[in-house]
Amino acid sequence: MQKNIVILISGGGSNMAAIVRAATRGRWAERFDARVAAVISNKPAAGGLQFAKDLGVVTAAVDHRGFAAREDFDAALSREIDQHAPALVVLAGFMRILTPGFVNHYAGRLINIHPSLLPAFPGLHTHRRALEAGCKVAGVTVHQVTTELDHGPILAQAVVPVLPDDDAATLAARVLTQEHRIYPHAIEGWLATR
Ligand code: GAR
Repeated sequence: MQKNIVILISGGGSNMAAIVRAATRGRWAERFDARVAAVISNKPAAGGLQFAKDLGVVTAAVDHRGFAAREDFDAALSREIDQHAPALVVLAGFMRILTPGFVNHYAGRLINIHPSLLPAFPGLHTHRRALEAGCKVAGVTVHQVTTELDHGPILAQAVVPVLPDDDAATLAARVLTQEHRIYPHAIEGWLATR
């Protein structure tokens, strides 16, 4: 059965673009019977949405500001996602905390990328915190999503050096380059075992 991948974004979508490009370049349709079925954002103005359209991917927005309760937003988001009967839901810079009901609904088929070497620095401002802690290396983690924020079984990690002159922006850029490499790779690994 065709494996549909739905990618959730909140911003620029550079990881999403790396995944969409990898799907084409890596012939995911032929090799895994998989395709990126949709890109969905909680922010209608997310730059990544136009980017996805330009890449020929179906897009949608579910604006979280239209919902008073987190549960209601997650329910609406699920309805949008489930139209595509996803085998895999990929969080790619999706900056919303998800309810346990949502996470459990996609148990085993929900993955995230987080810009730190988990379990170090869950949450926000990872690069600034790594610099403040005096870390000599930093990195990125792809993991399965569980109900605990930025936890769950690790699928892939990449390490970068922290250089003496780094600030949060230069470190983030170095980490992002690795994100674009390991996220598609981790998804290929996931698809290969399904
Ligand atoms: C990425 O660095 C991603 O790891 C991070 O947001 C950025 C999104 O960039 N995600 C998180 O911080 C999740 N807690 P992108 O929109 O260009 O892919």
